[in-house]
Amino acid sequence: MIRRASILCVVLALAGFCLAAAAASFTALSLEAAGPQVQKNPIPTSPDSIKAGRAIYAKNCAGCHGLQGKGDGASAPKGSTPANLAAGKWKHGGTDAEIFKSIEEGIGPKPMIMKPWGEKLSDEDIWNTVNFLRDLAKHAK
Ligand code: HEC
Repeated sequence: MIRRASILCVVLALAGFCLAAAAASFTALSLEAAGPQVQKNPIPTSPDSIKAGRAIYAKNCAGCHGLQGKGDGASAPKGSTPANLAAGKWKHGGTDAEIFKSIEEGIGPKPMIMKPWGEKLSDEDIWNTVNFLRDLAKHAK
């Protein structure tokens, strides 16, 4: 009888351990499901970064978004409405990471409203452009 009780004890202890382990791995799974950590802008803003961003912007973006970022570029495709990037209001998210994503992945759904720039521009180019856009919005009237 005593022996039975101790076997039962071991079984119960094991079950308890399993439950705890399952709970722990469930927590780990749900943390993982929350996605990778939000990206931080690795390039602190500086006159050099803003200058680099300005050059990239003038070359690739101003045609649609306008030199001042007001969405009034002369070569925007007919019927398109490029976003005003100087207003400090962001339709697709206004954190540095979200602006980065809008530029890198473009804006959908298909057909893309704005094509992705990730293949043409390096991550560093895009972060510099984000810093430039922040500066643009700061000085816009
Ligand atoms: C062919 C025209 C065109 C070019 C070139 C272009 N864009 Fe866009 N962009 C658009 C349009 C149109 C939208 C508006 C999408 C919408 O309204 O949802 C947009 C939206 C955006 C947004 C999102 C704004 C928001 O409110 O969230 C960002 C950021 C942006 N563009 C940055 C850039 C940058 C940086 C470049 C250059 C590397 C660039 N764009 C080049 C057409 C263009």
